[in-house]
Amino acid sequence: MKIIRVKDYEELSKHAANYIIEKVRKKPNMVLGLATGGTSEGTYQNMINDYKENHTSYKEITTFNLDEYIGLDGINKNSYRFFMDTHLFNHLDIDQTKTFVPRGNAKDPMAECNTYELLIKEHGGIELQLLGIGGNGHIGFNEPGSSFQSRTHLVELTDSTRRANARFFEKLEDVPTLAITMGIATIMESKEILLLASGEAKREAIKRLLEGKVSEDFPASILNKHSNVTIIADEAALSGLS
Ligand code: F6R
Repeated sequence: MKIIRVKDYEELSKHAANYIIEKVRKKPNMVLGLATGGTSEGTYQNMINDYKENHTSYKEITTFNLDEYIGLDGINKNSYRFFMDTHLFNHLDIDQTKTFVPRGNAKDPMAECNTYELLIKEHGGIELQLLGIGGNGHIGFNEPGSSFQSRTHLVELTDSTRRANARFFEKLEDVPTLAITMGIATIMESKEILLLASGEAKREAIKRLLEGKVSEDFPASILNKHSNVTIIADEAALSGLS
């Protein structure tokens, strides 16, 4: 794993955006895996700024998001589809029909999981997957205990994840209890992974990830077995390490 240490969230966001932009410029029809959440917001804003200034084109890009809440449709302000549209897609020249987010309101959520896996395969697999990390080591919505063999599936969200995400909702009770997420095996099939971590809240998770012990109790630990992972972390997230 390669670690890029940056000063703070602002620097992390610029660095991560530049990392992605460079890949997109090199391969304008690449397949990108994307994440939602507070950590990725700044990265997306920097990608938008670059699009306005330098006109990096996303016309041929295909994207697959990691996850979506069950029960929320794409116009619900708390859905991850809405997050992606408003924080990124609506501001680029990307073809919306090539932006995939699991459909949280699908009539048959299990079938939606299988369809999502097939779509990823049909597009030749994910070339660069952007990841955040949960305080408990979750990646996507793969909570501690998730099988390393898992493919896109339905998950029950843990209390800690629901509490962490409640900041985006009016109240905790509004946070859905179920979600669709790419599985760990799905994530591990991406050719390359870029994981972002910012702030003290991620310190323990980053420390544990870098300890190198691989266990299903700590989902992100599987990344130690991937051959092409880059972590961009700020000083606060790395402060537990020498
Ligand atoms: C979101 C996702 C999650 C987040 C993680 C960190 O699509 O898959 O795993 O990356 O919960 O979230 P933030 O960035 O809000 O701390």
